[in-house]
Amino acid sequence: MTVINVVVAGGSGILGSRVVRALLAEGGYQVSVLSRTDSKNENLDRLSKQGAGIIAVDYCRYDDLVRALQGADILVCVLSHDAATKLQPALFRAAKEAGVRRVVPSDYVPDVAELQAATYENPADGDKPFSAIHEDDLARFIAVSLKDPHSKNASFGFESCAITFLQLTAAVERHSGVALSVTHLLVDPSFSIAYSTADDVHAAYTFGHEVEMEVQGTSRIDNDRYPSVQTTSLDAYLADIFNK
Ligand SMILES: NC(=O)c1ccc[n+]([C@@H]2O[C@H](COP(=O)([O-])OP(=O)(O)OC[C@H]3O[C@@H](n4cnc5c(N)ncnc54)[C@H](OP(=O)(O)O)[C@@H]3O)[C@@H](O)[C@H]2O)c1
Repeated sequence: MTVINVVVAGGSGILGSRVVRALLAEGGYQVSVLSRTDSKNENLDRLSKQGAGIIAVDYCRYDDLVRALQGADILVCVLSHDAATKLQPALFRAAKEAGVRRVVPSDYVPDVAELQAATYENPADGDKPFSAIHEDDLARFIAVSLKDPHSKNASFGFESCAITFLQLTAAVERHSGVALSVTHLLVDPSFSIAYSTADDVHAAYTFGHEVEMEVQGTSRIDNDRYPSVQTTSLDAYLADIFNK
């Protein structure tokens, strides 16, 4: 079997560490994490023990990036949003120069239109479904989809489950045994924050939103493509959280 050499930039992070573990568990991948030379992320040690290589780089040194990416088949970016905005252009140029055949940008955005529909329309009802995603499920989806030739130049939608805010509230009450006090807001606070921050963030956010709408349309879910990827139900997730 041909082994696919994957470099995961930001692989020490919240989503990235799960992607690295999912690639290792999937098999058929040789996995390395691209990490800053001064990174103190504790996941690096754990991932190294689990079988990932660690490549320390100074993202400002272009030649180092090219050297670090030589021999890689795929570069998966799971950099934090701000780091990706700043570093990805040079990183992708370096990947091309190093002969990397495929890059996956750090663009794991929620379906904004779907969430807006759940919050804007009839907010008092709270009965519009939106997609909820467990990071481990998404990581497995990425690990499996990278082996599928149809995933090249494609944008996929994924969800662990579709829920409404009413279902979410009821489920949290059931698992915690506590009655929640619910306030209905017209707009989810996270959108207000996103729209009120600096201009460049606003522009990136709007651009991302428009591209996503254009490429993917709303509510397009591609779970069926990879039935081997098991998803976590809201109940299983909450049972895990409240048992800890
Ligand atoms: N986490 C979530 O709940 C969530 C939800 C929706 C979407 N996403 C998306 O998933 C992607 C990854 O997010 P995340 O939350 O997993 O990221 P994160 O854990 O905050 O960061 C990922 C890695 O990026 C590297 N990094 C951070 N700042 C950097 C900088 N200034 N320069 C270079 N590298 C830097 C770090 O790696 P080293 O320290 O090893 O260099 C870090 O471990 C983003 O596109 C985000 O928008 C995440």
